[in-house]
Amino acid sequence: MACGFRRSIACQLSRVLDLPPENLIKSISAVPISRKEEVADFQLSVDSLLENNNDHSRPDTQVQARKLAEKLKCDSVVSEISTGQGTVNFKINRELLTKTVLQQVIKDGSKYGLKSELFSGLPQKKIVVEFSSPNIAKKFHVGHLRSTIIGNFIANLKEALGHQVTRINYLGDWGMQFGLLGTGFQLFGYEEKLQSSPLQHLFERLGVHFDEYSGESFYREKSQEVLKLLDSKGLLQKTIKGTAIVDLSGNGDPSSICTLMRSDGTSLYATRDLAAAIDRMDKYNFDTMIYVTDKGQKKHFQQVFQMLQIMGYDWAERCQHVPFGVVQGMKTRKGDVTFLEDVLNEIRLRMLQNMASLKTTKVLENPQETAERVGLAALIIQDFKGLLLSDYQFSWDRVFQSRGDTGVFLQYTHARLHSLEETFGCGYLNDFNTACLQEPQSVSILQHLLRFDEVLYRSSQDLQPRHIVRYLLTLSHLAGMAHKTLYVKDSPPEVAGARLHLFRAVRSVLANGMKLLGITPVCRM
Ligand code: ARG
Repeated sequence: MACGFRRSIACQLSRVLDLPPENLIKSISAVPISRKEEVADFQLSVDSLLENNNDHSRPDTQVQARKLAEKLKCDSVVSEISTGQGTVNFKINRELLTKTVLQQVIKDGSKYGLKSELFSGLPQKKIVVEFSSPNIAKKFHVGHLRSTIIGNFIANLKEALGHQVTRINYLGDWGMQFGLLGTGFQLFGYEEKLQSSPLQHLFERLGVHFDEYSGESFYREKSQEVLKLLDSKGLLQKTIKGTAIVDLSGNGDPSSICTLMRSDGTSLYATRDLAAAIDRMDKYNFDTMIYVTDKGQKKHFQQVFQMLQIMGYDWAERCQHVPFGVVQGMKTRKGDVTFLEDVLNEIRLRMLQNMASLKTTKVLENPQETAERVGLAALIIQDFKGLLLSDYQFSWDRVFQSRGDTGVFLQYTHARLHSLEETFGCGYLNDFNTACLQEPQSVSILQHLLRFDEVLYRSSQDLQPRHIVRYLLTLSHLAGMAHKTLYVKDSPPEVAGARLHLFRAVRSVLANGMKLLGITPVCRM
């Protein structure tokens, strides 16, 4: 598949460069498609090779690329070798490319791209992701919505990559009577409360689930143990007000002081987080723990991790905070909102209205459900387009455009491709003629499908969904253009069959990507 090609290029390079193929695979990348010109399929950046070589003299990469290209030969896989700006470019035998990519997409199904060599040798890790974490006595607001969709995405991605993921919802329940009840009952109480709330509803659309519901009040006693431990290590200082603090700078700098005990002896938010982290380490022995909250809590987490460190828990370095920015201007017709039920209602209303105005809208069995799925897709794409850390201005109109770069457009593309399959059946799936898929539109789609693993790899490295979002939007644009020119109806059976194969592959990858982002693809809208 995609990376099978990478490996085969790497093998040839390895002979010329006298380096193991494994070291070369990550320097070979699929070339992003271009509207203006035909591009090669893969490229090797000479720069990244020089980095591999630890050669600091940095000779002219252009010359290096040419020299290297001269030593390489075309074979049964590579049909053309050329050079670009500091790169050696490879074109894959067209028929082989077509056959391999399409067969792989169909064969690997939801695992397409994830079995790539880019991920090979990746150790399976135990990962805890804490997200959502609303305050249950208060209303769920947009920050918690963001935490929910981002955390869900991170957990989905990690799980798809084969890690063992534990999803925790850590409820802000301090001061509520729930906390006084026994643990079993306490959790039952939480779930019951959540079930009747719009939050539960959101979880079910989004397909979000949690392996553990816990809450701050769960850590009442354990926080006292943390205080004792800090005290025994000489890290806790009593103040004249009767509170207890940890001075992280050691020189009284007020910005590095963290209060851990009130004057009445009770714990604070940070104390409970210390207790919770220690408890989770005992329970899950995690390799990584990720907390997803708004960026306002950045300092809080820095301090918590630092305190764990000075308490002697060297696993503190396995803890990571993924902060996100503020959503501004999310208002409904009812006024300024930040509450979940209002957002969900607004989404449903606006989407139903939108769908009623579209000429292409089908008669739907469950318009409410479709409206919600499409609406949530719109919200998620808007939210995932930029860097998670940046704030953004929310606009309902922009979010719901059906032709722009929106979640509506992704859903629309998916539904359209699905209906194509429904109309023409699935009998074509056994075989197809690769020669029928050589026009530029088909080749661009194949080249784009070839890159899916790299995009997953990038998102897995920086935990930013935007790479996947970009990719899926481009895929949908390509599908839209192909839909206009690569007719299925009225084409000879062989051509129609091959094209259906291509469209089916596009839909499969589109659906995979959408699901990773937490979107449920619709088949009709
Ligand atoms: N409930 C908190 C809030 O709404 C978020 C909790 C984040 N997680 C944590 N372990 N502190 O602000």
